[in-house]
Amino acid sequence: MSYYVVQGGQTLRGSVPISGAKNSVLPILAATLLNGGRNVLHNCPDLRDVRSAIQILEHLGCKVSREGDTVTVDSTVVDRWDVPHELMREMRSSVIFLGPILARCGRARLSLPGGCDIGQRPIDLHLSALRKLGTVIREQGGDILCEASDLQGRDIILSFPSVGATENTLLTATACSGVTRIINAAREPEIADLQEFLRKAGALVSGGGESVITVSGTTPRRDVEHTILPDRIEAATFLCAAAACGGEVTLTGVEPEHVGTVIQCLRDGGCAVRSAGRTITLLAPQRLGSMPTVRTMPYPGFPTDSQAPLMAAACTAQGSALFIETIFENRFRHAAELQRMGADIRISGRTALVTGRALHGASVRSTDLRGGAALVVAALAAQGESRVEALTHIDRGYEHFAEKLTGLGAKIQRRDD
Ligand code: UD1
Repeated sequence: MSYYVVQGGQTLRGSVPISGAKNSVLPILAATLLNGGRNVLHNCPDLRDVRSAIQILEHLGCKVSREGDTVTVDSTVVDRWDVPHELMREMRSSVIFLGPILARCGRARLSLPGGCDIGQRPIDLHLSALRKLGTVIREQGGDILCEASDLQGRDIILSFPSVGATENTLLTATACSGVTRIINAAREPEIADLQEFLRKAGALVSGGGESVITVSGTTPRRDVEHTILPDRIEAATFLCAAAACGGEVTLTGVEPEHVGTVIQCLRDGGCAVRSAGRTITLLAPQRLGSMPTVRTMPYPGFPTDSQAPLMAAACTAQGSALFIETIFENRFRHAAELQRMGADIRISGRTALVTGRALHGASVRSTDLRGGAALVVAALAAQGESRVEALTHIDRGYEHFAEKLTGLGAKIQRRDD
């Protein structure tokens, strides 16, 4: 079993490099299937989810190698069109392989995806968009069987700007004849990054990062070299840790604009935050103050993935904060664990009212990826020793988490026994 032992109460000081974005590298790895050539991806974080995506690519026939943070995928040969059940179960984002496998092979077989237990997470929007583009989809014993002989571009209106559904539709649309428009598309920066990758491969795509994306079906055939954009959620997590622990922390290799809503909340809580180029420096107050209501929204609103780490910081504040989770219905599971550290959190449906107070160390268990990161933030700020268990969740999305925090002066040790 893996766990962190954290001696809380240390202020954080120094600078920390931000890794490439998990939520960008996963769809881009899936997209490497399209060009039937060589794809060189820089700034790829070494995460459990990234390893799962690489295993899927290898299963499908691709040759993949890693050197430092550069991953090279040769997709010349793709001779399978299924994603094994274990890998689907491992992470929900494996559903993102559906579009590229379909576009490349004309058929695909996947089982229903796994991932964090933060809500129902259906894939109806993905399937309905692919059907409209001409895919015949059948469900058989927990598997989804897709066949597409004649994909035709058309207008796809998403009833909600789902990140995954936007990506799957975009990836499938590259193989459609004619023009596809994705209307009410998700606007997350990771979608703009996917578009940039696809353009380098020769796809004709515009509007990525805006609410209407236009794809003129042209098979992307060019080799690609691409650098994955910085992880805004990892960046936000470090900002929350610094705000909760006190001190002064500089993030490097980050895109400040992508963290704007989180920075605003922390400023409201009394932090001085300045950005210059690709760095952000946060100077924490003696104690974080009240923050106005935090409502999670699709980008450019406050990210649901940062709700848990910010809640952990709010638990230590002198004042209160109200959190409203509008994206996933089951995303307050970390609250019960935070309460074990003394946090005052009152939950009613999708709303959590946090009244800040001093936290104490405790033995807690990660409930999901971002919830796990939140427990680490709280443990760092708490007085005394904590033990944070179930690191498999945290390993999915944070590269060298303990090492990076140690570099800032935190006392955190990983134990695997
Ligand atoms: C992505 C991110 C995840 C983030 C989330 C929201 C990746 C790998 N993961 O997940 O970290 O928390 O965006 O920013 O990029 N929905 C449906 N039907 C569908 C698809 C989604 O009802 O077919 C609902 C979901 O249940 C949820 C909401 O839409 O309530 C948002 O989901 P979505 O944007 O699709 O999130 P993911 O792409 O799964």
